[in-house]
Amino acid sequence: MGEKICLITGATSGIGKATAMGLANVGASVVMVGRDRGRGEAALAEIKEKSTNASVDLMLADLSSQEEIRRLAVEFKEAYPRLDVLIDNAGLFSSKRITTADGLEMTFAVNHLAYFLLTKLLLDVLKASASSRIVNVSSGDHSNGTIDFDDLQGEKGYKGPKAYSQSKLATVLFTYELARRLEGTGISANCLHPGGRIPVRTNFGSGVSGVFGFMVRALRPLMISPEKGAETSIYLASSQRSRA
Ligand SMILES: NC(=O)c1ccc[n+]([C@@H]2O[C@H](COP(=O)([O-])OP(=O)(O)OC[C@H]3O[C@@H](n4cnc5c(N)ncnc54)[C@H](OP(=O)(O)O)[C@@H]3O)[C@@H](O)[C@H]2O)c1
Repeated sequence: MGEKICLITGATSGIGKATAMGLANVGASVVMVGRDRGRGEAALAEIKEKSTNASVDLMLADLSSQEEIRRLAVEFKEAYPRLDVLIDNAGLFSSKRITTADGLEMTFAVNHLAYFLLTKLLLDVLKASASSRIVNVSSGDHSNGTIDFDDLQGEKGYKGPKAYSQSKLATVLFTYELARRLEGTGISANCLHPGGRIPVRTNFGSGVSGVFGFMVRALRPLMISPEKGAETSIYLASSQRSRA
C-alpha cells in the first residue's frame, strides 16, 4: 500500500479506527476523518505511535452536516492530489428521532446521505488515481430494511431499528448502482457487513436506551474485536483483486 492514499470516515473509534490502524500498518497514507478534535487527535497519536507510520493525518467534519461534508472535500483536495481508497464507515443507531442542522433525520443523513455526498464530491480525485476503490460499510441488518418512500425521514412514525436497517439498505442499493455507473472507469465500489454473525465490540449503540441498548450491553462480552471487524474493510481497500 506504499503510495496509496486512503480516506476513512468514523476513524475515531471501533471498526473505523481499527481499519485506519490496519492500513497504516501496511504503509498506506491514511487520512482519518473525525468530528471531535479531542477524540480525533487521541486516535491519530495512537495510530501514528503503534504503526510507526508518519503518513497519517486527521481531518475534522461532522458528517451530519452537508456544509461540513462539502468543506471536508475541499480541504482534502487542497491537501492531496488524488485518492486511492475512500472508506465510508461512520455510522450510528439512534432510538429517538433527531434532526440534523439541515433538517434531515440523523440516521438517514449520516449512514446514507453522507456516504452519497462525500463519494460524489470526491469522484474527481478518485478518477485521478489509476485504479481506485470505494468501500461502503453497511450491515447485515440491511436485509431487515425496506425503503419507505412515503416516510423516508421517519416523520410519520420513527423507530430506531427501522431507520437503521433502511439506511443500511440504502447504502447497499447506492453501492450497487454506483458500481454499475463506474464500470469502465477504473474505480470499483463495494459494500460490506463488518465481522460475521456476532456483532463487533465498539461504541456502536453504547449510549442507546431501551431494548436495543440493553441487548448491545448484554452481548458485549461475546462480541468480536474491532480488529476482526475491520478485516473486510482492510481486505477491500488493500487486496490485489477487488472489483464490485
Ligand atoms: N459494531 C457492529 O457490530 C456493526 C455491525 C454492522 C455494521 N456496523 C457499522 O460499522 C460502522 C462503524 O461502526 P462501529 O461499530 O465502529 O461504531 P462506533 O465505535 O460507534 O464508531 C462509529 C464512528 O462513526 C463516527 N460518527 C458517528 N456520527 C458521526 C457524525 N455525525 N460525523 C462524523 N462521524 C460520526 C463516530 O465518531 P465519534 O467517535 O465522534 O462518535 C465513530 O468514529 C457503522 O457504519 C456501523 O453501522 C457495525
